[in-house]
Amino acid sequence: MKMKICLMPGDGIGPEIVEQAVMVLDKVADKFGHTVEYTEALIGGVAIDATKNPLPDETVAKCKAADAVLLGAVGGPKWDTLPGDQRPEKGLLGIRKALGLFANLRPAKLFPELSKACFLRPDIVQDGIDVMVVRELTGGIYFGQPVGRDVRDGKRAAFNTMVYDEEEVRRIARLAFEAAMKREKRLCSVDKANVLEVSRLWREVVEEVAKEYPEVELSHMYVDNAAMQLVRNPNQFDVIVTGNLFGDILSDEAAVITGSIGMLPSASLGASGPGLYEPIHGSAPDIAGQNKANPLATILSIAMMLRYAFDLSKEAEVIETAVQKVLQEGYRTGDIMEEGKSLVGCNTMGNLVAERI
Ligand code: IPM
Ligand code: MG
Repeated sequence: MKMKICLMPGDGIGPEIVEQAVMVLDKVADKFGHTVEYTEALIGGVAIDATKNPLPDETVAKCKAADAVLLGAVGGPKWDTLPGDQRPEKGLLGIRKALGLFANLRPAKLFPELSKACFLRPDIVQDGIDVMVVRELTGGIYFGQPVGRDVRDGKRAAFNTMVYDEEEVRRIARLAFEAAMKREKRLCSVDKANVLEVSRLWREVVEEVAKEYPEVELSHMYVDNAAMQLVRNPNQFDVIVTGNLFGDILSDEAAVITGSIGMLPSASLGASGPGLYEPIHGSAPDIAGQNKANPLATILSIAMMLRYAFDLSKEAEVIETAVQKVLQEGYRTGDIMEEGKSLVGCNTMGNLVAERI
């Protein structure tokens, strides 16, 4: 197979982790007789520095011309004081919108080898954690109009709008039901229907879609309760589907309780066209350029890419198995280090995985 991949290393640790992931992908491609062609594009802070724009048109064009996009991370203190529409984050939001990536899949899994790093009590996680958060990514309060500032009764005021239309809810619900069908067939839709009108529509539409998936056990939960249940008993969840803002928050929570946010990949998908694959963690400016970052989330994002963009599940498994072997052999980057294990840097971690492909 011929794969055209657009790389967007971005800011902070982005370049070093993407470099390791590319090396692993090349190794897999070599082994299975695929060819990979790379293009590279600017996004986030590096794009602001070079072009004054966090998402240059050229970047959108390069992404659209690719079969899949690999992103490192965006953002850092250098750009934190810029106005909202010029911040690095705007690049990420813009590319999601430009590529129509309405679904964000964020699997939160407890790796048995890293169970000591888990933040929850052993009796709570004795059956592990394996939750897939499906977050709506191009709608809701992140993009709703109107948005702005004005002066009300002589006081500065600001507003955003949380809005979903039924089609936006239907397509993310369908995708979540499909994901549940491939897993344990349990779907929990998270909303705030006791307060928000938009959540009441969300719930209504999810119920309608549920009729197409009689095998899936559907439940609903308010977001505050869901935040609590995730730490109380994470194993009650299989797939969670929720809107953009709640999904932003819950996916970080689900990821961090595993104790290995540096390990978790994600995929953002649209109805057609290239998807975007990226680690869940951010740009970690404090350790950037020091060969300390954990490249495994980005490497595992390559596995997700092979599976979702190219339907190459065998190749994906080879990567996942290689990562697991490296962990079993006791190698750790700083973020997942425990006593008695071997501390390695970003490059070495990448090499260790590549050697086991
Ligand atoms: C994420 C991030 C982004 C978001 C930021 C960087 C705009 O937190 O991917 O979860 O809020 O979606
Ligand atoms: Mg987030």
